[in-house]
Amino acid sequence: MKLFALIGCPVHHSLSPIMHNDAFQALGIDAHYHAFHVEPHMLKEAVQGLKALQCAGLNVTIPHKTAVMEYVDELDETAKQMGAVNTIVNENGKWIGYNTDGEGFVRALCEQMDVELSGARILLVGAGGAARGIYFTLLKHRVAAVDVCNRTVKKAEAFVAQQSSVYSLEEAEERVGEYDIIINTTSVGMYPHVDATPLSLRHVKKDTIVSDIIYNPLMTKWLQEAKEKGARVQNGVGMFVYQGALAFEKWTGIFPNTKRMEQLVIQQLGGKTC
Ligand code: ATR
Repeated sequence: MKLFALIGCPVHHSLSPIMHNDAFQALGIDAHYHAFHVEPHMLKEAVQGLKALQCAGLNVTIPHKTAVMEYVDELDETAKQMGAVNTIVNENGKWIGYNTDGEGFVRALCEQMDVELSGARILLVGAGGAARGIYFTLLKHRVAAVDVCNRTVKKAEAFVAQQSSVYSLEEAEERVGEYDIIINTTSVGMYPHVDATPLSLRHVKKDTIVSDIIYNPLMTKWLQEAKEKGARVQNGVGMFVYQGALAFEKWTGIFPNTKRMEQLVIQQLGGKTC
């Protein structure tokens, strides 16, 4: 039986084990996925231990996504550009680091919302690791614009390309009506702070796509506000499922059934998606 692992801190609430083990079972693959709690000061030892155990593949989550880059044998270009690894593949003893977060978000957006990215004007809220991954993936899709707004404007200025505009949250709130797609990449509104919203949507256009990478709660206050304004909304379950599905494909060569994964995740979260 092959071993696959998640390393992070904390990991006890992770839905990845349930999602991946179900996919292994459904496809008749003799493998098991286990989540390991790894404290930051033990990261090197944990990676060495998993290498010694011939672990076949890994997911890496907060807070190890950047630090783990030092311990892989090779980095793929996307992971390098994002400065973070969320997936490792063991190729005959050689550990290769990838990042499926940005592509996971974009695949979920295109497939679940049936959206055409070419020519779209997009606003990203936030400038952390998640924003960077999504930003660079969107740039590959011939979009008309990807602008970024953040509480700390300097953090956005540090990574955006010349063609993008950077705004403070207040400036962006006035420009919300100029965008076709608005994406929250911050943790604002995540459980337990469910009454917080990252950006006022009072100027949002009807039929704008408003997407939140948060999936707990499934319907954030921000998405609820967007829906009331006539926007089409998407929560973070899609990104979670697709980043996992893309990792699964890298490990096994098989792209799993994302509908099945999505249903399982929503069931675990105890609700309906939007
Ligand atoms: P991740 O890597 O998961 O994206 P991160 O690097 O900590 O996490 O980034 C978190 C993002 O959420 C940042 O854009 C952060 O804004 P700052 O750059 O100004 O810190 C944003 N964020 C977190 N809490 C916030 C809050 N209360 N109000 C506004 N933005 C917030």
